[in-house]
Amino acid sequence: MPLTLTRSDLLQQQNFINGRWCDGIGSTRHEVADPATGAAFASVPDSGAADAQAATAAAQAAFDGWRALPARDRARFLKRWNALIVANTEDLAKIISREQGKPLAEARGEVAYGSAYVEWFSEEAVRTYGEIIPEQVRGKKMMATREAVGVVAAITPWNFPLAMIARKIAPALAAGCTVIAKPAEDTPLTALALVKLAEEAGIPPGVLNIVTSSREKVAEVVGAWLADSRVRKVTFTGSTAVGKHLARESAGTLKRLSLELGGNAPFIVFDDADLDAAVGGLMAAKFRNGGQTCVSPNRVYVHHAVYAEFAQRLSARIEALRMGPASREDSQIGPMINSRAVDKIESHVQDALARGGKLLLGGKRVRNNVADGPNYFAPTVIAEANHDMALASEETFGPVVALFRFSDEEEVLRLANDTPFGLAAYFYTRDIVRVSRVAERLQTGIVGINEGALASEAAPFGGVKESGYGREGSSHGLDDYMQTKYQCQGGLA
Ligand code: SIN
Repeated sequence: MPLTLTRSDLLQQQNFINGRWCDGIGSTRHEVADPATGAAFASVPDSGAADAQAATAAAQAAFDGWRALPARDRARFLKRWNALIVANTEDLAKIISREQGKPLAEARGEVAYGSAYVEWFSEEAVRTYGEIIPEQVRGKKMMATREAVGVVAAITPWNFPLAMIARKIAPALAAGCTVIAKPAEDTPLTALALVKLAEEAGIPPGVLNIVTSSREKVAEVVGAWLADSRVRKVTFTGSTAVGKHLARESAGTLKRLSLELGGNAPFIVFDDADLDAAVGGLMAAKFRNGGQTCVSPNRVYVHHAVYAEFAQRLSARIEALRMGPASREDSQIGPMINSRAVDKIESHVQDALARGGKLLLGGKRVRNNVADGPNYFAPTVIAEANHDMALASEETFGPVVALFRFSDEEEVLRLANDTPFGLAAYFYTRDIVRVSRVAERLQTGIVGINEGALASEAAPFGGVKESGYGREGSSHGLDDYMQTKYQCQGGLA
């Protein structure tokens, strides 16, 4: 089915460097496929090191002019960009759905979510206050000012192709940094459309640059940025393995890093929980984007006293989910992003069943009609999960709910924290004293308390342990793109 947009010019298929749309310096291209069918429907440059370096040169040249602009002027550019994002919601949602697979209603929600970050940082741009330090020695004035870190490389994931790049570019531009971006190889088109709107908002040439590449060439593009001392910061959302690689490789030029990495979130249902609220919260957290979300619960711990009842109410809700292509308005779960993702989900399910898990629902790939490709996986519930299973230690990133049993608070806290990851955790209880005790002891950057929907531009999003460092959103989201300068002026006595 052709991708019909109100504005066909939003379907950009070139790099954008120094204010110009251009092909890659080599002539090879990389195809973009629809996850629902596996069929290619667009292509973008398969860029290499030379393209990456051209983008860096443009961003470096634009940096002095951009950071010198009054904060209010930078804010105005962001406001104009946001107005264009909002005005083009429907086209952006169609592009997201086509290349990423999420249902249209969810894609519209993602546009609103990403736009909220641009709006938020357009407001924060004018509040990058410093400090006047009270006089310590007569005749000396001391100040701490905040300034932009420099050129920022933004490397973004495929699961939220609009929101994740928006929440990196917006604070970077607000702080006065310039940006070189590389969107995920599966989903470059949404990012290119966003950049097209940034161009239309009048953001000056070189301030925002983007290059695309295939999975095979990504190491060349990112490698060129990691080795380049002009790039002062890398911001990345993706796997812990890649995050560690970026940390190692950027050490040579001591770049600042923001790493939003893998999750494997625990979701705990205590025996005093409101079970319907807990089921609702789990549905929201688990099935957002078909489970392909880094804060998606992977380990659901349910107190043995409510285990059977919870499993039954949850399975009834999951059974009612409608799976289908993104283009169908009533779809609630689309295809997974690609066949590698489905292979991983399938291997986690098979491993769990081989290690004593009991299949309550789903458990296999599905094809609803002949046009469906191989990327649909049925929403799945596995009971009697245990910590020998692969899904207890690795993110599944799919629509699989694994139900573990527990007996007491101490035990469940030990199990929940028994992971190298520390992004998000959730728990449901009506005991007010337990709320603060458990929230404090969970080793994660984000805690949902009787709540499954945590995402907000106004909140600091990020992890601890091997889920990374740095925060996105809120006033903290701007700090990651700024450095502190101490100025000491003497001779004033
Ligand atoms: C992610 O999956 O990386 C982010 C999800 C969110 O913003 O909630």
